[in-house]
Amino acid sequence: METVVLIIGANGQLGSVLTASLQEKYGMDQVIASDLNKPLNFDGVFEVIDATDKNRIEEVVVEYQVTQIYHLAAILSAKGEENPLQTWDINMKTLFNVLEVSRLNSIDRLFFPSSIAVFGEGAPLEQTPNNAYLDPATVYGISKAAGENWAQYYFLKYGLDVRSIRYPGVIGYQSLPGGGTTDYAVDIYHKAVLKEEFSCFLKEDATLPMVFMEDAIRATLELMEAPKEDITIRTSYNIAGISFSPAEVVAEIRKLYPEFKVRYAPDFRQDIASKWPKSIDDQTARDDWGWKPKFDLEMITSTMIQKLKEKYKMGSKNHKALML
Ligand code: SER
Repeated sequence: METVVLIIGANGQLGSVLTASLQEKYGMDQVIASDLNKPLNFDGVFEVIDATDKNRIEEVVVEYQVTQIYHLAAILSAKGEENPLQTWDINMKTLFNVLEVSRLNSIDRLFFPSSIAVFGEGAPLEQTPNNAYLDPATVYGISKAAGENWAQYYFLKYGLDVRSIRYPGVIGYQSLPGGGTTDYAVDIYHKAVLKEEFSCFLKEDATLPMVFMEDAIRATLELMEAPKEDITIRTSYNIAGISFSPAEVVAEIRKLYPEFKVRYAPDFRQDIASKWPKSIDDQTARDDWGWKPKFDLEMITSTMIQKLKEKYKMGSKNHKALML
């Protein structure tokens, strides 16, 4: 069977990069990108989908004979706290729509991203195990914890091949995150390259698990390619990249930009971060489908700075796009 992939949330931080990787892997015509708006100059097939509209998802799935879905649309941890009930509605409604469309149209494989936000104070904060107690303190985390259980339910009850990763904070130069607690770790590199002062919304010792975009994308594709019988976890897999605090990333950046200025102005996002793991035990992902990260803090920093310098040199139009 020919693989035809639908990405829901293709304009997001991960979605935009994943779309390009999937286009490379399966071919331009085999990948249907979708989001609320079509971006300017999009290269490939794009359909406008509001994932709260189940019929619209189904229409696209049927039209293109979609075989795999990556459902990346969600409201993240920090943004989600502005309107908790709306966040719950959107995150859960879109997931149920995708689960139902997948079940009814015999979708071959479905990817549902979860997050380190599923953990809370009931879990050990160091080397948090895959099967740790889940008591999330944000509505985003609650929606992901519930989503993981629904994913497993659809697997057990209907045999739907749903696979999931609990992403740490994702750091990449290609796109900007929106509304997360780990967003600072992307923004800080932009400020360094622009030679601007950085105001950090977390405390300097707020260590969090992070992963470089290349590693995050590779993890996703490797999980989705793994033989079905190797997948022993149908809620969601822990993956670890590296862990660092704002002070550690600042020290790394200062090796290249000794003048880089930072001030700390922790806000409500510090409370969110303080209940999340500092490091993650990802042994099960390593055992089941061979997960192993490649990028450490030094490699992330040198790559981010080099790529962002190139991007900003490309002119004011791109500069503006990057700063949105
Ligand atoms: N990066 C996400 C956030 O900060 C975690 O999944 O909300």
